[in-house]
Amino acid sequence: MNLQELVEPDRVHKRVYTDQSIFDREMTQIFERVWVYCGHDSQVPQVGDYHAVTIGRQPMVMIRGKDRQIHVLHNRCPHRGVQLCGNQRGNVGSALVCSYHAWSFHLDGRLRSVPLPRGYDGTRMTADNPDCSVKRAARVDAYRGFVFASLSATGPSLLEFLGEAKVAFDDMCDRSPVGEVEVVPVCHRVIQHSNWKFFMENQLDALHPSVTHQSTGAAAGRIEQQIKEATGAAPLYYHYLSAFASKFEQWDAVQTINFPRGHGILKAYMGLRPQDPDTRAHEALLVQAYGAEQTEAYLSRGIHHVLVYPFLSVQSPLQQLRCLRPIGPGKTLSEIWHFRLKGAPEAIYRRALWYYNLVNSPATMVNADDLENWTKGQWGLESDGGDWVSFHRNFGDDTEDRGVSEAVMRNQFRAWSQYMAETGNAGDASAAHVRR
Ligand code: FES
Ligand SMILES: [Fe+2]
Repeated sequence: MNLQELVEPDRVHKRVYTDQSIFDREMTQIFERVWVYCGHDSQVPQVGDYHAVTIGRQPMVMIRGKDRQIHVLHNRCPHRGVQLCGNQRGNVGSALVCSYHAWSFHLDGRLRSVPLPRGYDGTRMTADNPDCSVKRAARVDAYRGFVFASLSATGPSLLEFLGEAKVAFDDMCDRSPVGEVEVVPVCHRVIQHSNWKFFMENQLDALHPSVTHQSTGAAAGRIEQQIKEATGAAPLYYHYLSAFASKFEQWDAVQTINFPRGHGILKAYMGLRPQDPDTRAHEALLVQAYGAEQTEAYLSRGIHHVLVYPFLSVQSPLQQLRCLRPIGPGKTLSEIWHFRLKGAPEAIYRRALWYYNLVNSPATMVNADDLENWTKGQWGLESDGGDWVSFHRNFGDDTEDRGVSEAVMRNQFRAWSQYMAETGNAGDASAAHVRR
């Protein structure tokens, strides 16, 4: 199969969303090579704390070592392959101990002891053989507390990979007067019955909200108006929903910016910088910490989402992060996390929590309507009703100063094609730097 024939500059063949062999190649060429998000430093605060995570198709575990370093290990005993950590998260104490024959391992994966080791004398599995230790992710690094691992020993550094998309983490952390966030240690997990690319395309698709989310936005807007008329002001969270009902033309004015490697930004549209007493109290703390000028620079970045292709959507102004773990061509797990700004008023956290529950949780109509579109999209692409997916809107007119378009999807597929085509180091893929 010639993959290049499936991705044209303005359209993409449906097979890239439905074909098992293409999905398998995505796992080896992309997800098991690039830097993948594992979790936040604060998820494993104590020595021995672990959090299980999937990188591509590999069950891994992020664990805090005795040296306080975070290690990312394959969740597999080197003896007969049994999973070492059976839960999503927990604490293993001072060592990983396999539940089958009690081989034990230091928290960085090195073999600690084997019961009755004399049985291995004269074999190739003696304690000095590295095969007796738990296999580690080739590389682990973190940026502002967000931990990533790459299963490829070579390729760009984490910062090179993130490029300008690292602003996702700066824009989140700089809203804390101490420059740090901590995870809220539960997340929503949603299985989407659609290819992972539907999610990534949708994040920067600013034309769909006024259609898909019209019913939710309009209903919230009516109630918001009634409350305003009765009391003078409505709680901010009504605005989170009513903003979805903005007109097509308003959405068309929302800028998206494309970065290399498929990353991108959807610029702010929701007016997420209100002037209520809670916001003013929060901003006063930031001014105390950083001075007025720096605070203004931090708060005026004007971001709604940042996309780290191919798996993260970070909504930095509201401290939300969604991470994809693809399962099959038509099945994707998404994790929906949110964070507290350390040192910020409780009301600012409650605001993030409202958004988390009202817009990003599986219980909201906003998310449910998106999920329905993607499922129906997957069904359509699995049918014989046509072969191509169109990304023609404003094709050939990709410039910095125009409104939204399908340029973001075209940018994502440029990166996808390069990753999929590479025979050497997939991590070196860089899409053309096109702004829109
Ligand atoms: S499989 Fe782990 S100790 Fe035997
Ligand atoms: Fe949506």
